[in-house]
Amino acid sequence: MTNFIRIAMFFSIASVSLVSCSENKTDNDTEDLTPKITLQEKETAVQLLEKNCYSCHTPNQGARLAPPMFKVKDHYIDEFDTEEKFIEAITFFVLNPNEENVRMPGAKNKFGLMPKSVFNEANVKLIAKYLFYADMEADFDEQSSHPNDTSNYLEIGKEIALTTKSALGKQLFAAIEKSGAHGAVEFCNIEAIPITDSMAVALNTKVKRVSDLPRNPNNKANEMESTFIDEVRNTILKGEEVKPKLQIVNGKRVGYYPILTNGMCLQCHGNPETQIESITLSKIQSLYPKDLAIGYSRKSN
Ligand code: HEC
Ligand code: HEC
Repeated sequence: MTNFIRIAMFFSIASVSLVSCSENKTDNDTEDLTPKITLQEKETAVQLLEKNCYSCHTPNQGARLAPPMFKVKDHYIDEFDTEEKFIEAITFFVLNPNEENVRMPGAKNKFGLMPKSVFNEANVKLIAKYLFYADMEADFDEQSSHPNDTSNYLEIGKEIALTTKSALGKQLFAAIEKSGAHGAVEFCNIEAIPITDSMAVALNTKVKRVSDLPRNPNNKANEMESTFIDEVRNTILKGEEVKPKLQIVNGKRVGYYPILTNGMCLQCHGNPETQIESITLSKIQSLYPKDLAIGYSRKSN
């Protein structure tokens, strides 16, 4: 038992949780988390689609002049399953729509062949790249029968969480440098960081940082978040790699991204006797009389 308590205090685990207001999707495991397409690319591609393609490939139900884009994607991805082949095939068709290259004969019969128009090749390639990676149904709020690709959201969320974290980290570093840890105490509120990432804004995203042992009681992990923190803690105990997680909570996608403590954190979250300077400690205690966020230690390795 005592062992358990010691272990529980051994490292701090916090979690940034990302709340995005979109419709239901089922949960899925995390796989490869390296973003293959940057937020910038995604954003440009969406703009290009809106400008050049959605006049006919209307994302929403209603009078359509062409099949919805996610159906186009579904057809192509079946046949062209690598990024390279997929981009090539889409680009080839779009630059020169032609009866012989039609892969969707049903759509062609229904809507007629896609009219030829002049598109910039690089732009079409970017669109195709986006289509390859995008979680189309989710992006366009389509009700669909393939509601299981959430890896894109996990990635987007990760990027947003990391961006926010690094913005906070930079401010914090600068503040500590300028006025010491005690002077930096006030800079630690994540609410003070506006989300400037346009993808985050477009997705109506909220970022928060929570802990099971919070300093600010407003940052107390809720039940779901605590469950995740416990999971992460167990993962670390087993010596395994921690991974973020995406879940649907009350119809919203929520991504959880664990933050592990590093040495810098201990100036304000470490052992109050040995690691936190008394001037910093008293500042913290006056601002946060119910502080629980001390006694963190570094993940041993
Ligand atoms: C003026 C209307 C219109 C616009 C604008 C348009 N499309 Fe299409 N597109 C169609 C129609 C109609 C079809 C279905 C018939 C067909 O397959 O040719 C189609 C089919 C497609 C197909 C599948 C072709 C096949 O059958 O294999 C792809 C890929 C495609 N469009 C991509 C795009 C992209 C990317 C853009 C924007 C850069 C775009 N389209 C803009 C009308 C349009
Ligand atoms: C300069 C002092 C200082 C440093 C350094 C610092 N923090 Fe904090 N931390 C705070 C304060 C103050 C709060 C309360 C912020 C608020 O009111 O939202 C806080 C809040 C948090 C929270 C939100 C939950 C809670 O306890 O309220 C987490 C998680 C957290 N810190 C983790 C870290 C990590 C991880 C590091 C190192 C990368 C770190 N902190 C470095 C002072 C600090």
